[in-house]
Amino acid sequence: MDKIVIEGGARLHGEIPVSGAKNAALPLLAAALLPGGASVLENVPQLQDVSTMARLLRRLGCEVDGRRTLTIAPPATSATGARKQPKLFEAPYELVKTMRAGVLVLGPLVARYGRARVSLPGGCAIGARPIDQHLKGLEAMGARVKLEHGYVDVQAKRLRGAHIVLDMPTVTGTENLLMAAVLARGHTVIENAAREPEVEELALVLNKMGARITGGGTPIIQITGVDDLDPVEHAILPDRIEAGTFLVAGAITRGDLLVRDARPEHLDAVIAKLRGAGVSVTVEQGGVRVRGGGGMTGMDITTQPYPGFPTDMQAQFMALAAVAGGQSVIKETIFEHRFMHVPELVRMGADIHTDGHVAVIRGVRKLSGATVMATDLRASASLVVAGLVAGGTTEVLRVYHLDRGYERMELKLRKAGARIKRVKA
Ligand code: EPU
Repeated sequence: MDKIVIEGGARLHGEIPVSGAKNAALPLLAAALLPGGASVLENVPQLQDVSTMARLLRRLGCEVDGRRTLTIAPPATSATGARKQPKLFEAPYELVKTMRAGVLVLGPLVARYGRARVSLPGGCAIGARPIDQHLKGLEAMGARVKLEHGYVDVQAKRLRGAHIVLDMPTVTGTENLLMAAVLARGHTVIENAAREPEVEELALVLNKMGARITGGGTPIIQITGVDDLDPVEHAILPDRIEAGTFLVAGAITRGDLLVRDARPEHLDAVIAKLRGAGVSVTVEQGGVRVRGGGGMTGMDITTQPYPGFPTDMQAQFMALAAVAGGQSVIKETIFEHRFMHVPELVRMGADIHTDGHVAVIRGVRKLSGATVMATDLRASASLVVAGLVAGGTTEVLRVYHLDRGYERMELKLRKAGARIKRVKA
């Protein structure tokens, strides 16, 4: 298995580019099941999760071609151009267990083909992550939902509009219901909807396909169902979590780094916390610049649904807090087990104590390089960020976690001055 080896201490400088957003690409790939022809997605990030989603779509009978620009022809149009049903309506356990976003085919499959069979994802490293809200919404739209043999089987001749109030603003839940409602008969309202930019992007692309959605990116989304959708061409927005991770990397190394293509309007909470810690962040044409100068101070962070502070940035900020002056308190409210980076950061010399969902971090003068590993994507990113500033050598194992969500992170960081390399196993 590959590992990332870092010699800490180099300041990042110059520019670092941001790739297309993973969490926008995944629902957009699933949405390509909806129209009656081939859609084209540009600026697709080259990530393990994207390859897994492409594999799932192929299994469902789609033709998927390309890399950075992907063409996805749903079963209805592939090969001969004749309308056909997919041979399988199934997202199997082998795929969903490695990538929970596989559940995103549920909404489009039921809406377009009347049936979906999707493996229940089960628990994962960061928490239980049930999909009850996705299923509740589909049932409200008239679908029959059966749970058997670890799979959820959802059928509906044609979904009908419904008024759905989500218990929590679930991101993929909102996306699944949005993709289901666009082809339903009548009007759907989703209340307490997730407001993440990736949800707004999905609503925008569905509208480009001919859907009638208002309120994407707000807590109340209204959808009037249509009979058919047209294929689209769309370039995926830049990844705000990758951008945020590079801002933290620039700050922790006290560098001077332009994070190219970062969208400041999607990073308000992250930029506010960096500034609050004494880091200079400026918005420039073409991106966001971070300059880490003198002493950084501790920070108090509570993760929240967007536009609050993202859970996907919590681990990286923990690395920053580990070397900031004074005490920081970080509270994780979205997922139950999202402190897996803590014992690894402690092995690098961090002073962190956790009590349930709360971590108290007392800044230390220096971290020291160590061999570390984590069991989820953002935790792995936090260990790389910590390694950039730790004394000596840090080896981050299980790089496949990182490859799920960061496109050749080590190459981008090396070009910005980090002493970092991937060692092939
Ligand atoms: N939840 C339920 N029932 C549901 C749905 C969610 O109880 O039916 C709970 C979850 O267990 C969790 C909370 O609601 O405690 C929020 O989960 P949400 O459904 O919003 O998360 P998700 O859609 O599974 C997406 C991202 C995650 C990101 C979260 C939160 C994608 C593909 N994944 O997951 O991204 O952390 O939203 O912002 O969009 C990552 O990129 O590293 C990642 C984990």
